[in-house]
Amino acid sequence: MMKRTIEKNFYFTPKMAEKIILLMENDKEAVELSFDLNRTKLPVPLQGNCLILPSNERIKRSALEHVAETEKVYVYHRGLFSPVEVMNDHYYKLVPTEGAPTIEISGVRMHRTKDCEPFHDAKQKVSEVVRRGDVVLDTCGGLGYTAIWSRRFGAERVVSVEIDEHVKAIRQDNPWSSEIFNDFRIELIDGDVFYYINSASSNCFDSILHDPPRFSLAGELYGKEFYSELYRIIKPGGRIFHYTGSPYSRGKKRNFLGGVVRRLHEVGFRTFLKPRKMGVLAIK
Ligand SMILES: C[S@@+](CC[C@H](N)C(=O)[O-])C[C@H]1O[C@@H](n2cnc3c(N)ncnc32)[C@H](O)[C@@H]1O
Repeated sequence: MMKRTIEKNFYFTPKMAEKIILLMENDKEAVELSFDLNRTKLPVPLQGNCLILPSNERIKRSALEHVAETEKVYVYHRGLFSPVEVMNDHYYKLVPTEGAPTIEISGVRMHRTKDCEPFHDAKQKVSEVVRRGDVVLDTCGGLGYTAIWSRRFGAERVVSVEIDEHVKAIRQDNPWSSEIFNDFRIELIDGDVFYYINSASSNCFDSILHDPPRFSLAGELYGKEFYSELYRIIKPGGRIFHYTGSPYSRGKKRNFLGGVVRRLHEVGFRTFLKPRKMGVLAIK
């Protein structure tokens, strides 16, 4: 994937391309678009079968037809559309939603998108635990949404750990992630959070966001050894929001959640189920 400066790029989604084509077919002279994946909107002129970008570049309908046929986010840069994706052992791509995008890794989405918008979902998780002045650990950084909301809720400092270099490459290209790169109070750590917390001092965090991939992909982040280290590094009275993703209602899932709660108790936490937020609040 090409390295690009976020501000100078124009982002396109299949829905956007469909909308532009429809308005071209109806001989409209302008279309309201967001070139930063729904962060801001502006009116953009149409001239026949061409879209005129704010940079005065012209994009032909035939190029947009290609974008409309896919399920990817594209960046238009110097005459070229390139998808925001990485092909490796796994396939990573940014997936558009009605709000902020999510990242999909080999078909598994890293944020809730059903009846829920990823950035708002991150806000809900963070609101459960982060207070003004907190030093926060964001165990699984992903696109940075939980780190961004931690700062917006008044955290003094946020340490955000992310293991996967391809996730990091994708977030460099995500306009919704830009705050993590522009805020010196967000410290981005490259690596495995398991190793990071082993080296962290005891009682050094006020609150922790623990938003791991699903159990089948990262079982160790749901284990007693990991929870015990979380207990050691969080201050007395400190709060953890642990996203579990369990729908709570089905028997098999309840056992999974029961196991999470039992292990959290065993290492010393008090726990409170948060079904609407699909997680557990743990307090030291
Ligand atoms: C559900 S996503 C987190 C989303 C994130 N909270 C956000 O707001 O965008 C889980 C992330 O954890 C990362 N991850 C998985 N194992 C990890 C580990 N051992 N240490 C750090 N990050 C890990 C994955 O690469 C993925 O990006």
